[in-house]
Amino acid sequence: MYHRHTKCRACQGTEFTDALDLGVQPLANDFRHPGEECAGMAPLKVILCNRCGLAQLSVTVRPEILYSRYSYVTSKSETMNEHFKTIISDIAMKIKGVPLMHVGRIKIKVLEIGSNDGTFLSQFNGDVTTEVMGFEPANNLADIAHEKGVRTINRLFDEPNAVELGATGYRADVIVARHVFCHVDDWQGFIHALEFVSHKDTLVFIEVPYVVDMFKNNSFDQVYHEHLSYMNLLAMQHLLAETKFKPHKVIHYEIHGGSVGIMLRRREWEGEADASVDLTIAAEDIGYLKYKWECLGKAMQKNCGDLMKLLASLRVAGKTVCGFGASAKATVWLNAMRASKRDIAFVCDSTAQKKKCLVPGTDIPVVPESELAKADYAILTAWNFQVEIREKHRDFKGRWVLPCPEVKVL
Ligand code: TMP
Ligand code: ZN
Repeated sequence: MYHRHTKCRACQGTEFTDALDLGVQPLANDFRHPGEECAGMAPLKVILCNRCGLAQLSVTVRPEILYSRYSYVTSKSETMNEHFKTIISDIAMKIKGVPLMHVGRIKIKVLEIGSNDGTFLSQFNGDVTTEVMGFEPANNLADIAHEKGVRTINRLFDEPNAVELGATGYRADVIVARHVFCHVDDWQGFIHALEFVSHKDTLVFIEVPYVVDMFKNNSFDQVYHEHLSYMNLLAMQHLLAETKFKPHKVIHYEIHGGSVGIMLRRREWEGEADASVDLTIAAEDIGYLKYKWECLGKAMQKNCGDLMKLLASLRVAGKTVCGFGASAKATVWLNAMRASKRDIAFVCDSTAQKKKCLVPGTDIPVVPESELAKADYAILTAWNFQVEIREKHRDFKGRWVLPCPEVKVL
């Protein structure tokens, strides 16, 4: 089901330091109906490369097992919509210096890797200046994208598939890879594949959760089997050293608890790199990263302990507790605490794919959002959408509980 990871995927280093250990865990998006067999369990441990500071999982679960029945769909939330507008405008500023929607008759080709159900690309629907295309290996998601009118290649983005597309003469002006790069095992292969579908002015935009933001939020719940790496910029610089691409700019975003958009240019592109690249690397001393991973481990112990104590006292008081948001993060939290439905009666979530399923590794059912009214306390397991969720459910009579950075009853 998995193999041991022995060579750093950014710098090829082989010396690692243990960073965080969550024991043996279920796969975070393996939502199943009661009685249905689950995909299996695997060690969940982070190790850090002593040379480039890249934190990565100590084992790699086979992608066929992780992604054959993929239940993650891009969030339809207002928060995500706003974020899409922001990144489109940030990218557009780099394309001929004007917003994408205002480039006149020039047709900009946007290629998205890991385009999911087409939610991001459909932002361009009706915009005659943009031609979109996505790569998405999950059949169920590619079908939904097609229904929305988003042209989707139902395959994994890898070298053979990129060569095939490139051979048709296709070259993208913008290549977007949102929250997919840290799921990729073969980084060299991925960057190499970009060569075949890009030209000398192509802008590549890779968005990933940023490791330093994980430390700020104590968000150990970003650690799950799909996230093979926890990105720092020094690692990206090492990775690109022998490739046709170079770092161009780094932009911080609040999405998913703190992410970075890393822009790349081809080496033959003549402009200067933005100061944000060196500034970001300067703040990533390897000794500091190691220390912060240690602190994250301690924060995890403390927050899980505090939340379990709170749940025990609420049980004694006869209160009903639920979670809100059956995200992968929720799976990590509930398994790290070894919670059962005795502690958390249900988790509310509106995603169709998770309906009537159990949170992986637990007996806790996923129920529609409307069930929230039955709870006295609701843990914001989707804490990254807390502002929007609390606003949407402002008539909730119970109390919200924030699990991080510290456990807090609101
Ligand atoms: P994510 O952080 O991995 O996108 O997961 C967030 C989960 O929360 C996802 O399963 C959808 C769910 N959710 C709702 O059910 N209702 C909401 O209003 C929001 C914002 C999220
Ligand atoms: Zn390394």
